Amino acid sequence: MKISVIGCGYLGAVHASSLAKLGHEVVGIDIDQVKVDSLASAHAPFYEPGLPELLAETLAAGTLEFTTDMSRAQGATVHFIAVGTPQQEDSNAADLRFVEAALDAIVPYLTPGDVVVGKSTVPVGTAERLAVQIEAVGAQLAWNPEFLREGYAVKDTISPDRLVYGVRSGDEHSVALLDEVYASVLAQGIPRVITDFATAELVKVAANAFLATKISFINAMAEVAEVTGADVTQLADAIGYDQRIGRRFLNAGLGFGGGCLPKDIRGFMARASELGAGDALNFLGEVDAINLRRRERMVDLCREVLGGTIEGARVAVLGLAFKPDSDDVRDSPALDVAARLAELGADVRATDPQAIETSRRLRPGLNYVDSAREAAKDADVVLVLTEWREYRAIDPSELDSVVSVRAILDGRNCLDPVQWREAGWTYRALGRP
Ligand code: UDX
Repeated sequence: MKISVIGCGYLGAVHASSLAKLGHEVVGIDIDQVKVDSLASAHAPFYEPGLPELLAETLAAGTLEFTTDMSRAQGATVHFIAVGTPQQEDSNAADLRFVEAALDAIVPYLTPGDVVVGKSTVPVGTAERLAVQIEAVGAQLAWNPEFLREGYAVKDTISPDRLVYGVRSGDEHSVALLDEVYASVLAQGIPRVITDFATAELVKVAANAFLATKISFINAMAEVAEVTGADVTQLADAIGYDQRIGRRFLNAGLGFGGGCLPKDIRGFMARASELGAGDALNFLGEVDAINLRRRERMVDLCREVLGGTIEGARVAVLGLAFKPDSDDVRDSPALDVAARLAELGADVRATDPQAIETSRRLRPGLNYVDSAREAAKDADVVLVLTEWREYRAIDPSELDSVVSVRAILDGRNCLDPVQWREAGWTYRALGRP
């Protein structure tokens, strides 16, 4: 099938190349010439394992191309909208400017029978409003939310947990076309839910709200553990054995960040308030607050280990990305803590396997170094803030002779306290004695 994908950021670039891999003829369209040039030469403008190989393969096969020319969407039957919906600068609500611009741009190239498929995360009610413009030219709108995780984006696109199609009641044409788009996904037995626009839009934010709540729940338990001497990681293991609860997304630590969870729960609250259902989501305000408190707690723990004074202390920060296997530092707890410590007068040396460049763009004033060893040189304390595999695997002996003081703070509960303590280090973590 001929498919266009409008917006070639994280979501769009992965979606376009995955659809090409699934056997379709795909054109990815973006207004950013630099991004288009980069993708067209098989360079992903962000770090995502497997994506460069997928781009190279599908570009070479001739089934994928990238352009800034919107008229190239003409002739495609299905048009995916995969542009960003960031948080508005002055409120919690989502900024729909890019979605609206993408629709305005595609409408002149639609032919009757085409289906425009929204993938972006939007406030409930958006599809209903946008459909009018598309239906006016004889095309259809469907909403097909995306659940991909950074670091697993290609796998999550080709083998998702489920597909959700939000369509107008009785719109079998859009369902049939989406089934054709996802034929090889459906052939794996992956479930699909066919529903209305509002439910499809809600599925996405509800899923993210649930995940954020699960993380904040265990971080709230960490707060209680801290004042009782309990160990939140053992607590998580023990409750996680209950299959109704499950152990996944119960890792206590610095909490969630990234381009989705924080903005999506805020946008969800804002939209529910507009609709008069704000009370139903008041708890998400608490979820957000618990999450942000973890960053303060990390700074406090650092101060405590430093004997009460952060100013002038040499602090090594290992990890800046919001999670491992990503170079994304949007709303990253790790980068936030590093920046707060620097603002409080610490001599911070920060490093990350992939996220130094992205961090530098956001926080140009921080001192970045290339390796954990360099960061730890003469450090009064070492902070592990993103659980990259290589930091989890560090042996205390690698840093013993490098640091000034043997003290390590585990912001992600990813190190073995026994190993570090036996090696003579002070080990402290969030939610653990
Ligand atoms: C998330 C959703 O998982 C995905 O389905 C949606 O499409 C986009 O948002 P992503 O932002 O890539 O994906 O990250 P995710 O793996 O969900 O992690 C989010 C944050 O939560 C990270 O900062 C991570 O470190 C943190 N986290 C995750 C925890 O603190 N504890 C956990 O147990 C799990």
